[in-house]
Amino acid sequence: MSAPSALVFATNNPSKITDLSAMTQSAGVELLTLADLGLVCIPEETGGTFEANALIKARAVAALAPNYTVVADDSGLCIDALDGAPGVDSAIFMGEDTPYSVRNAEILRMLASAENRAARFVCVIAAVFPDGRDCTTRATIEGQIALAPAGENGFGYDPIFFVPHLGKTIAELTQEDKNAISHRGKAFREMLKVMKASEFK
Ligand code: IMP
Repeated sequence: MSAPSALVFATNNPSKITDLSAMTQSAGVELLTLADLGLVCIPEETGGTFEANALIKARAVAALAPNYTVVADDSGLCIDALDGAPGVDSAIFMGEDTPYSVRNAEILRMLASAENRAARFVCVIAAVFPDGRDCTTRATIEGQIALAPAGENGFGYDPIFFVPHLGKTIAELTQEDKNAISHRGKAFREMLKVMKASEFK
């Protein structure tokens, strides 16, 4: 069994498309966006877990593009000192139109006296297949909330997510280096493996 030759990515987030397209290119899989198919889909993320929300997004697009295998990503930053927040609400933390420079500054302020700066990015990739079945993969990257933002690459909370063994924030990494270690890179590569090994079609 081989992975589908094309995947539809159920996202409206261009930064997630950038992350995934570097990986699909090297895997020889065509990544189609909603724009490529002329689709508009903004489902409400009412799930409460990364798995539930990833499936909501994948199923909503699968209903519009039933002949394709559809993948969706639900992800977020979980900070131990904030009891796991912003977590599944990462995209809407402080309002979805608030610039990340402001949100990141606020997180640094909230952690100003925290001794424990441990945090992780979590990513769940959901896939819905043309035969109606679905599955999810989950991966994390462990790190620390930096003392100050650093780096210009990436998106969102990348400038304040410090990876101790590299001595850099994710925003200081190249796209290739981010994908090699990131929550999204790991969860998506695992999904490609599941697709190759399984009878999903
Ligand atoms: P979602 O669209 O509900 O999955 O929201 C994901 C949100 O989590 C993004 O909008 C970012 O705020 C945050 N996030 C997830 N992955 C990353 C990443 O790789 N870098 C930086 N922020 C991320």
